[in-house]
Amino acid sequence: MVEQEIEALKGKKYPAKQHCRNVCSHFTTKKPNAKSAGHYFFVSGEREVLYQYSDQAKPFRQNRYFFYLSGCDIPGAHVIYNCGSDSLTLYLPEIDYDDVMWSGMPLSIDEAYAKFDVDTVKYASELEKDVAALSSNQIFTTDINDSNKAFSHALTAGDPDLFYALDESRLIKDEYEIELMKHASKMTDNCHFAVMSALPIENNEGHIHAEFMYHALRQGSKYQSYDPICCSGPNCSTLHYVKNDDEMAQKRSVLIDAGCEWSLYASDVTRCFPINGEWTKEHLEIYNIVLKMQKATMDMIKPGASWDECHLTAHKVMISEFLKLGIFKSEYTAEDIYDSKVSVRFFPHGLGHLLGMDTHDVGGYANYQDENVLLQYLRLRRPLQKGMVITDEPGVYFSPFLLKDVLETPEKMKFIDKEVLDKYWYIGGVRIEDDLLITDDGFENFTKITSDPAEISKIVKAGLAKGSSGFHNVV
Ligand code: GLY
Ligand code: MN
Ligand code: MN
Repeated sequence: MVEQEIEALKGKKYPAKQHCRNVCSHFTTKKPNAKSAGHYFFVSGEREVLYQYSDQAKPFRQNRYFFYLSGCDIPGAHVIYNCGSDSLTLYLPEIDYDDVMWSGMPLSIDEAYAKFDVDTVKYASELEKDVAALSSNQIFTTDINDSNKAFSHALTAGDPDLFYALDESRLIKDEYEIELMKHASKMTDNCHFAVMSALPIENNEGHIHAEFMYHALRQGSKYQSYDPICCSGPNCSTLHYVKNDDEMAQKRSVLIDAGCEWSLYASDVTRCFPINGEWTKEHLEIYNIVLKMQKATMDMIKPGASWDECHLTAHKVMISEFLKLGIFKSEYTAEDIYDSKVSVRFFPHGLGHLLGMDTHDVGGYANYQDENVLLQYLRLRRPLQKGMVITDEPGVYFSPFLLKDVLETPEKMKFIDKEVLDKYWYIGGVRIEDDLLITDDGFENFTKITSDPAEISKIVKAGLAKGSSGFHNVV
């Protein structure tokens, strides 16, 4: 199995049983009799789904809650956990003649016992009978779907207490999950290094995308945590730009936000660099501001720290640096500008989010309706805790779309020196994004690819990819 490639995980299984216990323990804070009354958690995994009017399957992406409770990435499987007896049963799909003919033999029951951290393995044909033997009103499930509608009358679907318990449990990563995430990060570092090194032979955003994917696939990361964002010049002002098809000639800046997935666990890293290795004055100015925003927030990160405060600190750093550059007029104070909230048009997204099996992982409790526009897109709204993995990803953007009404509204425009601002549009934007594990007294940064502008310049200029498709290990 893929985890066995990680030294620290050799001989270990994905800790599904412990995950079930953790979920049960959070569940009992809401339903105190969950154990004594013998409540169950039941989750169906995703099934293979075909495109409409086609015999081609959509890319398979396992249900994260199902995987968390089972460690199983097989389509069409189910899991039941009995909180009372602490027993976990995995139901595998039946062996299908056509499937074997086209796709080969599936995992046998014996192989499943050896691979997964479960007490019992059965075929799904036994599921309906087994569920019928359990008392109804005690089987809690996430949702009713095509996989379980045959016995939906026996299920209690969508109880918020179950989601609460699952999300609180997924919030804190255990050692096994941390090793998977470190491995994903390591592969991502190598891909980013390869992209930076290959800039001399990349003249379209698609080449950056291809370079990243080539190295991801070579390392075994078949799926990415999200669609890679590969942009150049003004395109860097679109936060989740995925067209990745523009020519790079005549442009100066590149932004790549891409992360490998490993065994369903994500990494999420952004790096920016100059196309020819030489930073322009304006590009480097903005890059250094974003680096300062990241440094100031990293200095605050430890258990108990307010992520809201970290995010607002990043805004304050940006405002004070924009005042120095003259983008914000010096006749206004940093406080005036902060209170006007105009900074949100240059730094519109949140400072970072939880990271786990989902890139924007569960448990962050975003409030997209927050009256404070500075906080509206912040996806993590709770104090930091040891064992969380988060991204720290400040950014500064020059988006004609986001700044249009600022430029047209005198009350907002008064803070901005248009002549100075006009020097920066060609950069598009800069974001720097690292993945951090919160530790006892601070954090461990999983992301090792350099963000130092001088080192980046050296790597791009050295153009290691010139004349080679060699693979470079940075960690
Ligand atoms: N790559 C998506 C994000 O950074 O949130
Ligand atoms: Mn991110
Ligand atoms: Mn990202």
